[in-house]
Amino acid sequence: MSLDVAPRRPRTRTRSRIGWTWVALSSLAIAVYAVTPYVTTPLHELAGDGVGLAGAYENQPAWVHAAFYAHIAAGGVALLVGPLQFWRALRERARAVHRAVGRVYLVAVLIGGVAALALAPVNSAGMVGFAGFGTLAVLWVWTAWRGYRAIRSGDVRSHQAWMIRNFSLTYAAVTLRLWTGVLVAAQSPWIVTGADADAAFTNAYAVVPFLAWIPNLVLAEVLVRRRGLPALRIVDPASGPAGYARTEVGEG
Ligand code: HEM
Repeated sequence: MSLDVAPRRPRTRTRSRIGWTWVALSSLAIAVYAVTPYVTTPLHELAGDGVGLAGAYENQPAWVHAAFYAHIAAGGVALLVGPLQFWRALRERARAVHRAVGRVYLVAVLIGGVAALALAPVNSAGMVGFAGFGTLAVLWVWTAWRGYRAIRSGDVRSHQAWMIRNFSLTYAAVTLRLWTGVLVAAQSPWIVTGADADAAFTNAYAVVPFLAWIPNLVLAEVLVRRRGLPALRIVDPASGPAGYARTEVGEG
């Protein structure tokens, strides 16, 4: 099981397998841990027990509840099935399964992303959340669209590159929770009362709407380049010095 696209040395393969296993297990853990309470228990009960963001959403209008549940369910599906798509044996030996799971994944990203965009203006982190989660939602859907278009036009290498970028954004659901835990723990010497704990969470939540996904995207681009896949470039090298005047994002 690996993310490989070209013949690789055994040590690189082992590292790739360890990486894939970590990503698959942590995605499974967060999909189960973060989603299960919302699909098994009513929001007002979760709010009473102080679970997740239930308190922030309990008294919101019906359309927000609809977006919240659509987002959680679709996000959970994307996180569960996404890692399977990077399992090389499955891609090569069961192409039909890869295609079917891919369609489920893309529909989940579309629903989860549109719902996340609807939640961004009412999110509990205010303007930082609006900007961070809103940008993430747009990039999540856009990279999925680029990956879909690439494979429809038969460009397998661009498809792989866009789907690595896209899953690095799906994985923000995991890194958001890891960063929040690390940043709250880093403030533990100052946490004495419940109010301190709330303040520590609020401090952490002021940066995680961006911290959850920007490093993931940088790492995804490193992986794309290491695997010799078409990398993003800011300036078109073929256009010479004049190219600097029309800065654009494309594929190398
Ligand atoms: C990658 C794009 C994603 C974006 C832009 C996004 C955006 C959001 C937003 C705006 C909220 C409300 C946050 C708040 O009010 O503070 C939220 C909550 C939530 N999201 Fe996502 N999300 C994404 C991916 C995912 C995925 C893949 C999952 C799968 C587990 C997921 C699961 C949840 C859950 C369970 C909540 C409720 C909050 C909690 O109790 O932790 N999200 N998301």
